[in-house]
Amino acid sequence: MIGIVLAGGSGTRLAPLTFLANKHALPLGNVPMIHHAIDLLAKIGITRAIMVCGDSDAAKFMRYLKDGAAFGVSLSYTYQDRPGGIAEALSLCRAFAGGDKAFVILADNGVQYVDTLARAVRELGHTDQWRQAAVFTTRVEHPEHYGVVKLDDQGSVKAILEKPKNPPSHLAVTGFYLYPPDVFDILSTLVPSQRGELEITDVNNYYLRDGRLSMYELDGFWWDAGESLEQYQAMHQYVLEYGANHWQHPEPGL
Ligand code: DAU
Repeated sequence: MIGIVLAGGSGTRLAPLTFLANKHALPLGNVPMIHHAIDLLAKIGITRAIMVCGDSDAAKFMRYLKDGAAFGVSLSYTYQDRPGGIAEALSLCRAFAGGDKAFVILADNGVQYVDTLARAVRELGHTDQWRQAAVFTTRVEHPEHYGVVKLDDQGSVKAILEKPKNPPSHLAVTGFYLYPPDVFDILSTLVPSQRGELEITDVNNYYLRDGRLSMYELDGFWWDAGESLEQYQAMHQYVLEYGANHWQHPEPGL
């Protein structure tokens, strides 16, 4: 299984901080935001990854992360020319994936505990389950900022809605995804949404309709540090105080 770190996009919601620096280069605790994403991959047992950069700061990321050896991850890079959406950024990694499964991380997302992510990688990634995809959910106070799970009366998942004005639940889909190799075929069928982007939620709904989407609920605290300036500042303070990517129950062998 390969890792894919998506760090393109424009970061407009963190202006004016992002006028001078790429969002993922901003500090989160004592290190740049991107550091936590690569560290997370290493913690959950992924040793080969590609990072999608955008903007004019790509060379700075390379200078900081180098070939990833300091993290224990063999790291490659590719470049997204314009912020065409998360799904578009993912599509750039097809050749690198080379028919393998992929664990995808949005580089502005982070977690207190890595246990659930590691379990999913072990259950779906390192087994012969070649058709199953997975998303990772958490309960939030303001679901309207995220992809939101819609359930029926029996509690079965009906759909995932992207930033709905009237959220049907408080269950948000976080920026971690696990995909089988055919994700790249699905990406090539997507059409841009109203905001002009190829949406990752359309990919997840495809797997849901196809009966191939697993859902894992994250344990502990999760954040999207790119959601607003206020949230970024709060998460910076949180990570300064508590750190990130801890084990709640360390697993032997990982
Ligand atoms: O944080 C979780 C949420 O992330 C999910 O709940 C939503 O379903 C999902 O659409 C996404 O929403 P955001 O509006 O927060 O995504 P954002 O545009 O902030 O992009 C998140 C990361 O994806 C960003 O840090 C870098 C990467 N990205 C984004 C775009 C638009 C790219 O690499 N290229 C892009 O073109």
